[in-house]
Amino acid sequence: MSAVPLSVTTLAAMKTRGERIVCLTCYDASFAHLLDAAGVDVLLVGDSLGMVLQGHRTTIPVTIEHMVYHTACVNRGRSQALVIADLPFLACATPERAVDNAARLMQEGGAQVVKLEGGAALLDTVRRLTEQGVPVCAHLGLQPQSVHRLGGYRFQGRDHAAAETIRHDALAMQDAGASMLVLECVPAALATEISLTLSIPVIGIGAGAGCDGQVLVLHDLLGLNAGRPPSFSRDFLRGHDSIAAAIAAYVAAVREGSFPAANETPY
Ligand code: KIV
Repeated sequence: MSAVPLSVTTLAAMKTRGERIVCLTCYDASFAHLLDAAGVDVLLVGDSLGMVLQGHRTTIPVTIEHMVYHTACVNRGRSQALVIADLPFLACATPERAVDNAARLMQEGGAQVVKLEGGAALLDTVRRLTEQGVPVCAHLGLQPQSVHRLGGYRFQGRDHAAAETIRHDALAMQDAGASMLVLECVPAALATEISLTLSIPVIGIGAGAGCDGQVLVLHDLLGLNAGRPPSFSRDFLRGHDSIAAAIAAYVAAVREGSFPAANETPY
């Protein structure tokens, strides 16, 4: 019989024990198998696939069909890791739409958790999903689906008012029932404070080493960047002779808290 996959309660227990959670994006069965075997706790089927697999400049062209397809591929390749799937651009424009799209990610794709980008405007949606038994991962800070409103991929929460909004939204998401939170590109001090305040696990990307766990885009970790790599990522393939060794190094670095280092923490 195959191993029982991790769940949101397993991750909550890891946070309580002070064990760092290792998360990576994943888009296909082969990598799901490799990452799972290396001990990655969470496979995030991110809509970043629109950029790293499909070659778009943003995640906006990604559809729910794409997400269901890649989530099902990842689900077939994993045995233990928890699978989180992104609700893509406007897939949760209304609570009803979010419920229908979450159903597809879970029933057809096999996701255990759905992730949605956005703050206060999505609180009703998070409540509706969790009431229906759907575990939700909130996503605050840099929200790539809002790139055109933000005017680029910029760090968020750098002034007092913006930091206060993120702090407030993080608590509100937890109160609305979210089981996890991703904080993307926010100052490390803010991310650490939120991680210490919330009882749910907080996973950081470009948010310093003080979060309960870390996530990276798989392609960044493997040095597969068409342009300049993000300032907060590390090419783990450098100095290692296989993808498996690079993934193992990432797992070890997150668990021991040596990734991200100070020079990989821009703010
Ligand atoms: O889509 C994605 O890969 C993500 C991560 C960057 C957190 O949301």
